[in-house]
Amino acid sequence: MAEDAYFLGIDIGTSAVKALIVDDRERPVAGAEVALATSRPAPGWSEQHPDLWWLAVQKALAEMAEAVPGVLGRVAAIGLSGQMHGAVLIGRDDRPLRPAILWNDGRAAVEATALNAALPNLGKIAGVPAMAGFLAPKIAWLRTHEPETLAATKHVLLPKDWVRFLLTGEFATDMCDAAGSLLLDEARRQWAPSIVEAVGLELGQLPHLLEGPAISGRVTAAAAGATGLPEGIPVVAGAGDAAAAGIGIGAVDDGDAFISLGTSSQLFLTTADYRPNPAALVHAFAHALPGRWFQMAAMLNGASVMAWTAGITGVSDLGAALDTLAARGRAVSPITFLPYLQGERTPHDDPAARGVFFGMDGGTDGLDLLQAAVEGMAFTLVDAVAALETAGPVPPTLAAVGGGSRGRFVMEVVASALGRPIRRYAGGERGPAFGVARLARSAVTGETIADVCIKPDLRDVILPHAERQAALAARLPLYRDLYRALKPLFPR
Ligand code: XUL
Repeated sequence: MAEDAYFLGIDIGTSAVKALIVDDRERPVAGAEVALATSRPAPGWSEQHPDLWWLAVQKALAEMAEAVPGVLGRVAAIGLSGQMHGAVLIGRDDRPLRPAILWNDGRAAVEATALNAALPNLGKIAGVPAMAGFLAPKIAWLRTHEPETLAATKHVLLPKDWVRFLLTGEFATDMCDAAGSLLLDEARRQWAPSIVEAVGLELGQLPHLLEGPAISGRVTAAAAGATGLPEGIPVVAGAGDAAAAGIGIGAVDDGDAFISLGTSSQLFLTTADYRPNPAALVHAFAHALPGRWFQMAAMLNGASVMAWTAGITGVSDLGAALDTLAARGRAVSPITFLPYLQGERTPHDDPAARGVFFGMDGGTDGLDLLQAAVEGMAFTLVDAVAALETAGPVPPTLAAVGGGSRGRFVMEVVASALGRPIRRYAGGERGPAFGVARLARSAVTGETIADVCIKPDLRDVILPHAERQAALAARLPLYRDLYRALKPLFPR
């Protein structure tokens, strides 16, 4: 390999495709982000057509090539990451049969309940009970509602694996994304025939399973022509976005824990063995490295709730509004917000839950609502810690990554709500694309995982703020009681 090789990570996110090229010392050389729209054809549904992902990948690569001429020609290997759990159905002509049904789509709630009843051991085998957003119950939904689509389906893929197919011609996935389908036997790291059969699929319809750093295929001549990438370079299996973010900050040793704040949010704890905890709706999934698993509380409403609240209150500059909130100095908003804009997974498994602002009066202003949104998101992380703690300790300090971790005020609210210091690392906002660029590098340089998955330099530690911590602790019971009281009303 040439000494000055570059490595490309592509993350098929929900709000955008993000691409990052780093050099052999992990310095960013080029980056691009191409926004993606989500369609909501019915309440609680969420879809994206796979063609949009490929167009966005091509655009991101073209933007990087324009900004840094010659950059694509120096890419030596590619890693893929992406939004997990989505159902991508490919027909006999190797074309998508319909828009992908995404992780935040709640339509398969009935099928998830039926799957749990039919396979009482499901949570133990697959790492978590069936919930509406996972791929497996969506297949069951299609069986009832779109049998013609399912009959025409030759391959079932996870979102980023459609991009892999277009790059390499291979149908393959990594263990972490496979875990998110709920069709994986987590302990064995193999497809679970009992679950595959229960949803009416055949093993031959599923992609080839690989560990994250394994080479899944090579860029074809057609893909090279369509993208400007060199023909023949390897594409590694990669990882679902949660584990890819973990690789990026070196969260690969037993007990390494972090919060990821993107469109959704997660609390992620690396484990050296498989530790299912289905009763708490914790996801115990295969990590992106062989012999590693993780426990994860997965929340559907992350930093996106702040952007949404800014939008409805007419705030055009979210960062400036958060600075104003910090200067205002209120320990807690007078308003309490349930942030369940798209239902919730851990700890509620409730696709019907919705957002609620509680306690408004004539004096309430937009900033009160925005502060309540930040606090509501932070409370979901408090519930996440409580869920993980049902099975074992959560470390006394946590790292934070993802776009939502950039703002100091938001991190101070999170640290105060959790009563835990939060560590931020240099480049922590680079996210999953950076993690899979690391996997790509390990595949071609022969470096060990320990060489590649180092922890970046610590940037800062944000401590809980005493007054805020006390005020948020006093508010938490109301937040939890509101959900309990409204739960039976949401379906109406
Ligand atoms: C994790 C999850 C999200 C999606 C989209 O369980 O649902 O992280 O992967 O980012």
